[in-house]
Amino acid sequence: MKKLCVLGSINVDHVIHIPQFPQAGETLTGYDYHQAFGGKGANQAVAAARLGTEVSFIGAIGEDDIGQTMKNSFANEKINTQGIAVIAGQNTGLAMIQVADSGENSIVISAGANASLDETRVLQHKALIAEADYLLMQLETPLPAVSLAAKFAKETGTKVVLNPAPAKPLPKELLALVDMITPNETEAEILTGVKIVDEQTAYQAAQAFHQFGIELVLITLGERGVYVSQKDNQAGEIIAGFKVEAKDTTAAGDTFNGALISALMEQKTLNQAIRFAHAAAAISVTRKGAQSSIPYLAEVGEFLSKCHH
Ligand code: RIB
Ligand code: NA
Repeated sequence: MKKLCVLGSINVDHVIHIPQFPQAGETLTGYDYHQAFGGKGANQAVAAARLGTEVSFIGAIGEDDIGQTMKNSFANEKINTQGIAVIAGQNTGLAMIQVADSGENSIVISAGANASLDETRVLQHKALIAEADYLLMQLETPLPAVSLAAKFAKETGTKVVLNPAPAKPLPKELLALVDMITPNETEAEILTGVKIVDEQTAYQAAQAFHQFGIELVLITLGERGVYVSQKDNQAGEIIAGFKVEAKDTTAAGDTFNGALISALMEQKTLNQAIRFAHAAAAISVTRKGAQSSIPYLAEVGEFLSKCHH
């Protein structure tokens, strides 16, 4: 069986639902406050695991009960937690999430233990990277470790997938190690300087990524789907997603990423894998929370069997 190693963040999400986003200086009454398991890295790992992939995780939690609870829940998902460090004197990372009635969210994170995911931790868990077929990373943990992990992956024939979220500029040396990148429009603009407004500009942004050396580019376009481009192919194409009523879009992107890699590892074609990932993400937006909204394999199968496009 093929293996995925995810390097990334673990957060406890403090979620509150609100009718609409508050203005600066405004006080607003929300509803349905709850804590949930999140973090972009953790969400992507859970998505891949629920969809049938063998997953290991490199990350960090603080010295608190909630961190331990999340680590235990990882083990219940059959994720290998050997690469998760407990950082003395630190809190587990957290995210304050507002979800508006439209389904849109705004997120503020406090890195906590995630900030301690340094190069030493990557060195400790080199084997997890080397033995994996794919390494999946995001940008909620410090860059030096992300870069070093990408370097090891390259050296050992592990494919490097980067979901460059949250958006930040990246060194060319790191981008050159990436095999596949999955930015949204904002992230793509920050990394390439191309503002995406239509298919032509999506093409230009994709070409810029290819020039950095990246083989496969998937730019997520929100409700319009995803723009896919392969290096040395003439033009890319947009593959539409599924229309569902959004309740909470938190972790939709993470579900997409985890599901995509999971499907690619099952030898699905790129188009099939994207359709599968779109379905998994569509299910996740109809449910509240991050990890609580991520579907299992049978649910995605059922969703796809009901869709005729
Ligand atoms: O992508 C969604 C995630 O972003 C949330 O779970 C939150 O923890 C932040 O990391
Ligand atoms: Na959700």
